[in-house]
Amino acid sequence: MIMTLHISSSIRCVGVNDAHATLFESQYPLPHGMSYNSYLILDEHIAITDTVDAHCIDQWLTNLDRELDGRRPEYLILHHLEPDHSAGIAAALQHYPEIKIVTSATAQRMLPQFFDTVDFDGRVKTVAEGDTLPLGTHTLQFIAAPMVHWPEVMVSYEQSEKVLFSADAFGKFGIADYPDNWVDEARRYYFNIVGKYGPQVISLLNKLEQPKIDVIAPLHGPWLNSNLQKYVELYKTWASYRPETNGVLVAYASIYGGTARAAQIMARNLRAMGVENVALMDLCVCSQSEAVAQAFRYSHLVVAAPTYDAGIYPAMHDFLYHLQIKGYKNRTAGVMENGSWAPTAGRQMMKMLEEMKNITIVEPMVTVRSRLNDQSTEAVLRLASSIKETLS
Ligand code: FEO
Repeated sequence: MIMTLHISSSIRCVGVNDAHATLFESQYPLPHGMSYNSYLILDEHIAITDTVDAHCIDQWLTNLDRELDGRRPEYLILHHLEPDHSAGIAAALQHYPEIKIVTSATAQRMLPQFFDTVDFDGRVKTVAEGDTLPLGTHTLQFIAAPMVHWPEVMVSYEQSEKVLFSADAFGKFGIADYPDNWVDEARRYYFNIVGKYGPQVISLLNKLEQPKIDVIAPLHGPWLNSNLQKYVELYKTWASYRPETNGVLVAYASIYGGTARAAQIMARNLRAMGVENVALMDLCVCSQSEAVAQAFRYSHLVVAAPTYDAGIYPAMHDFLYHLQIKGYKNRTAGVMENGSWAPTAGRQMMKMLEEMKNITIVEPMVTVRSRLNDQSTEAVLRLASSIKETLS
């Protein structure tokens, strides 16, 4: 699909909407496809920002030729070298032999790793924090953004139209013009792709407080031109690991329904106690990436899973592992286990949670023996009550 909505007459979208993409990074489901954004700045000197994923290169070059209408680009700005944005570099150098790459020194060092048959000698201009690239009436100012999401990342600010080319920051899953609420797929993108690097995101946000920004143009999803403070505030919340919603995610995995029932009773108890925001997610059915995003969203988490081969049932183990590697922290959690003859999952889930930073475990830990009975139902109620007490 061709992106046709341009930022302005001189800053045009030449990226590709891939409505048929099914997985991002070969692991994250894409129910609404994916966009790979590239922009064209038409001026006395013409610049292209970034490229697209490998299977979109032909469409990208077609988009470029259409918008260039016979003009020749001088610069290819590379904000980020991950292949979803850089796969078209060799094709661009071939299609526009005179074009010069403009990128960070770190990216320059990485380029041959991805393109070992391309001769980059004399074709790369490196830029660093604060450097500018005059294009005519437009001027790009470069801002280093290491580890948002890779070490070579930079963003750039176009001074005349006040456009921030924000790389992965402010990106989301889905084709750029998919009519959703932005926040759900942006949250899922943020915590699964960039979530581990909160301090680096905060550092970038601090640098962006000075220039007045009218448009944020990310590498994925729509460009943003209104209510920008709303997006920035969400990013500040996410990057500082503060909960976005005061409430409870009850995340469960269940083999034959016994644990599912306990999780449902937990959610029902919480709602009956007046907790307004309670989400219930079945880890065997939902995508792990959505469960991770929701865990970061809520202030409280209850995990419920059976014991399996003397360990944690795999869907729950996978969930907790993902929380660990994404830097889950600063939350309150409760644990419910199931085990028909030797329940051990609870202790092991608790250990995984305790290995994360600043996780407060709320008692009691609930043990279900196959199915809820009066004793375990009472324990679920007591855990719900303890969680309710910790909610402000
Ligand atoms: Fe969209 Fe880090 O690449």
